[in-house]
Amino acid sequence: MGTEYCIDAARIIDPSTGMDELGWLQVKNGIIAGIGRGSRPECIKSVMTKPGLIACPGLIDVHVHFREPGGEHKETLQTGCAAAVAGGFTTVCCMPNTTPALDNVETVRNVMQRAVDVDLCRVKFIAAATVGRLGRELVDIPALKDAGVVAFSDDGDGIEDDDVCRQVMEHLRAIDRPLFPHCEFKAVSKSGIMHAGPTCESLGLVGYDPRGEELMIERDLKLVAETGARYHVAHVSTARGVDFVRRAKRDGLPASTEVCPHHLLLCDEDVVDANGKPDPNFKMSPPLRSRDDVKACIEGVLDGTIECIVTDHAPHTTEEKQAGFVGAPMGIVGLETSLACAAKALIGQRGFDWPDLIRCMTTNPARILGLEGGSLKVGRPADITLIDPAREWTIRADRFQSKSRNTPFDGWRVTGKAVATIVAGRPVYLDESCQWNSGQSV
Ligand code: DOR
Ligand code: ZN
Repeated sequence: MGTEYCIDAARIIDPSTGMDELGWLQVKNGIIAGIGRGSRPECIKSVMTKPGLIACPGLIDVHVHFREPGGEHKETLQTGCAAAVAGGFTTVCCMPNTTPALDNVETVRNVMQRAVDVDLCRVKFIAAATVGRLGRELVDIPALKDAGVVAFSDDGDGIEDDDVCRQVMEHLRAIDRPLFPHCEFKAVSKSGIMHAGPTCESLGLVGYDPRGEELMIERDLKLVAETGARYHVAHVSTARGVDFVRRAKRDGLPASTEVCPHHLLLCDEDVVDANGKPDPNFKMSPPLRSRDDVKACIEGVLDGTIECIVTDHAPHTTEEKQAGFVGAPMGIVGLETSLACAAKALIGQRGFDWPDLIRCMTTNPARILGLEGGSLKVGRPADITLIDPAREWTIRADRFQSKSRNTPFDGWRVTGKAVATIVAGRPVYLDESCQWNSGQSV
């Protein structure tokens, strides 16, 4: 027995087909059973009628850090998934910089089972590319692929050695999985505390040099040209980095990239609070960059160079973040603010609208990482997000489902919110504005 229901009177946006029309969506036994414009077929019970809502493929975030194993005091798969569905996400991909790292089949199988037990949204895993993420010895790439990982990354650290990186790419080319690199030569970025620039200088801090990112992207793209490996730059943050990817795509290389909402909304000057002190909730890697870098990242999204919006959701406890700006760990949470913050940064810029944003948060990431969501075509799993694009709300970190509160956006007034998150036909999150009249059994 399953359920059958209809979501109607919604603006249906499906970037995989180009649909953007008022219409209805029929769900049966966890699958999209019908989709159409105008009024719904009368025989099916409607569970959601709220004019003004957008219905789109479930949001996908291909770059999150849930801290299992080893960092459960910051986030667990349970709290991370709760944050994901509250932000409208039906699929997330977890980075492997856990303790121990996700660099072997057994550890990966354990977290996969944990995610199944949590049973909220789809959780995919990205394996480390090198043992212990140390950049020296390759992991067993074919075995990890067979275990079901979707990509490989030493996120948190770059693969600095040219030969190791080339070998990783050669192996990934053979199994057709993408490398998803954190691009940073630490000797060049100086493991800096914040972006190297006037604000950093005035605070007397060690500057995180943008060339650390730029040089690694440049090096890697040469290796991509040699090996033919698929290559997806994690959290691009520099103008030159965006431009390297733009040119690589023009040259026909299998390269793509992603950006975080904070790199579209904030710059290095914003790190300083009203009292002139740097705020650890504005500290992450890569750091908030210059105004010109922010403009270049926005331009990269608008011209299609940057195809995905991701959070780099990186939970750390309040105590850890209170260690002062220098001592605090890098990273901020983002799952519960991503949609509204990305909308604030992008919508209305040169005609960029909800279908464009939804493409960057569903169809594009699904295509790049080979995930099953990102489409409302009949026969696909009913992973659906309902968005109220006009909903004004205030970000309150103390109301997050995430275990952590480290956001630079606390107190921000924003517009646009996921009000229902549906995974395989099952509503796993409904915001207080949503009335769900249970579907009929079939
Ligand atoms: O800010 C960051 N936090 N950047 C990373 O690359 C790692 C992440 C984390 O795991 O905390
Ligand atoms: Zn990351």
